[in-house]
Amino acid sequence: MKNIRVLDSEDLPTNTSSNEHFQAVVERARSRRGFLKSGLGLSAAVFLAGPLAACGGSSGSSGDGGSETPPETSLLGFKAIPVSTEDTIVVAEGYTATPFAPWGTPLFAGDPDWKADGSDDAAAQARQVGDNHDGIHFFPISGSSSEGLLVMNHEYTTAGGSGYQWLFGVDGTEPWTADKAHKAINAHGVSVIHIVRNGEGKWEIKLDSHYNRRITASTEMELTGPAAGHDLLKTTDDPTGTKVLGTFNNCGNGWTPWNTYLTCEENFNNYFGTTSGNDQRDEVQKRYGLSAQGTGYRWEEFVDRFDYVKEPNEANRFGWIVEIDPFVPNSVPKKRTALGRIKHENAAYRLTGDNRIVVYMGDDQAGDYIYKFVSDGTFKEGGDNSALLDSGRLYVAQFEDGAASGDFMGTGKWVLLDKNENAALLADNTNFPTQADILIKTRMAADLVGATKMDRPEWVSVHPTSGEVYVTLTNNSGRAEDETDDANPRAANRYGQIIRWREAGDDAAATTFEWDLFVLAGNPVKYTDRADLKSGSENITVDNTFNSPDGLAFDQEGRLWIQTDGNYSNEGEYEGQGNNQMLCADPASKEIRRFFVGPRECEVTGIAFTPDSKTLFINIQHPGEDGDSHWPDGGASLPRSATIVITKDDGGVIGS
Ligand code: FEO
Ligand code: CA
Ligand code: CA
Repeated sequence: MKNIRVLDSEDLPTNTSSNEHFQAVVERARSRRGFLKSGLGLSAAVFLAGPLAACGGSSGSSGDGGSETPPETSLLGFKAIPVSTEDTIVVAEGYTATPFAPWGTPLFAGDPDWKADGSDDAAAQARQVGDNHDGIHFFPISGSSSEGLLVMNHEYTTAGGSGYQWLFGVDGTEPWTADKAHKAINAHGVSVIHIVRNGEGKWEIKLDSHYNRRITASTEMELTGPAAGHDLLKTTDDPTGTKVLGTFNNCGNGWTPWNTYLTCEENFNNYFGTTSGNDQRDEVQKRYGLSAQGTGYRWEEFVDRFDYVKEPNEANRFGWIVEIDPFVPNSVPKKRTALGRIKHENAAYRLTGDNRIVVYMGDDQAGDYIYKFVSDGTFKEGGDNSALLDSGRLYVAQFEDGAASGDFMGTGKWVLLDKNENAALLADNTNFPTQADILIKTRMAADLVGATKMDRPEWVSVHPTSGEVYVTLTNNSGRAEDETDDANPRAANRYGQIIRWREAGDDAAATTFEWDLFVLAGNPVKYTDRADLKSGSENITVDNTFNSPDGLAFDQEGRLWIQTDGNYSNEGEYEGQGNNQMLCADPASKEIRRFFVGPRECEVTGIAFTPDSKTLFINIQHPGEDGDSHWPDGGASLPRSATIVITKDDGGVIGS
């Protein structure tokens, strides 16, 4: 998300702990071995040393300088495309990209068309595709690649210093009414859309399907797991602490091997403020970044539960991962408290050797952490897995230099956030009297145990065969704003990076790992001295330069798809980088090629494939957030977030 950052923002750290920042680990490692002084020789060789497995020791290689043999065939079968600054979508030659299910699309047979001036009311919005598409997944019906349930997040409605756009057309918030607030509430959440591919190969919505569903910021859901029913989750309307209305700011997503959708509540804090006129936040509310006074969304003016003074515990009921069964249309979504309460970006799973499920998660804020959950129970194919995410162990990551320095790789530890097994948490009965308190105040528990501050962890993805885990660290503009001015943040944190690790013994439940940086994004157009870290690692070139990696997913063959949510000015530090885009990387060679570019003022996000890998669904979020787009309808139309359907013209596998 972008525009809302003027209000709170994942750019602004709320982490005031003294824990070591990941950038400090990188800088220390770099300075010890004289990374910059060594120029391209050492640095480029190490950065291009191939799969992380090569540094594991079993091969005897330590990535010591270009001894790796490049693979004979690349996973990337398409020709890279140049940047674009046009108000259109561009995809690699030989592919077709088609907008699908834009904001406002009716989901039920017999409903009227969307009103193109944005004047639909709250009731209409509740039956239409929501706003600002984000995480997405395709659930095949009976294994089909031509019929299934497309499930997607509607992260937010664009609102910020300039008010809402374009939810109410060009009318904005004047006058601000209860119906407008409820329209915004209904534009959030999740859509479940039954789609079929017709005889001409075109995807269509099956409007008469009983699977079609809108879940909004007021849909009833249930809190489950160890924290459910805790006093901190009880409100006036829900003295049980188990019944919540709605989910919102659903950013990235995940899914489970038992065919449920995981939607991740990210910047929930932006929805809680007060009309009281005074900052009355407590320490927990500050650590999670609630608005001190009013919010840009202005829901608190009409719905008391969004005023943290009137209803102090309501915000504690958000910031969770929510599990939805899309195949049971009336199923109650479950907020899984065992996975912790953070600003969840996405969720990526891997099974252990004995079939426990491990879920990797990032907390997207400058200076926050990376987590993993390991279930107690085991996944049973075809069995009842509905309680699997309600019991397990939650860990937070520490990244360390390891034995060798200066090589952008190291070792790490998973620190258990458990009341009885962690001495620091055991000793603190003020903040953490029970495990439930640790799960509700997860960030503060992680502060206490010395987790490593990261540069805004975004999406996580697990390699389909190696099990290596990759995470985008989008940038650290928040810290830069604190330290300098808007135009001069720390160069090393401007463009972002992707880190990856391999668990010890290839065991997803391991408590130690080895890590390295896969790519340091940068701008060699602007910074022509390749010894300057702002130019990026060697797998960044003038042809593939980008900033702010965010969405991330492997396909079945191991291609790594990278999406950006960054600065699209194409000027200054971002010269030559164009609109936000999607690139594809070969994890072995580390080569990165640009595959797709979005329209103006959008981010590109969400990645889902059909089982045959021949249809790719991605999302365009907030085109024209600052007013310079009429995508996808053109002319003088309102810009609309939409899904993009991508197919290869020869019918082949995407990316091949
Ligand atoms: Fe919703 Fe961290 O992006
Ligand atoms: Ca090291
Ligand atoms: Ca994101």
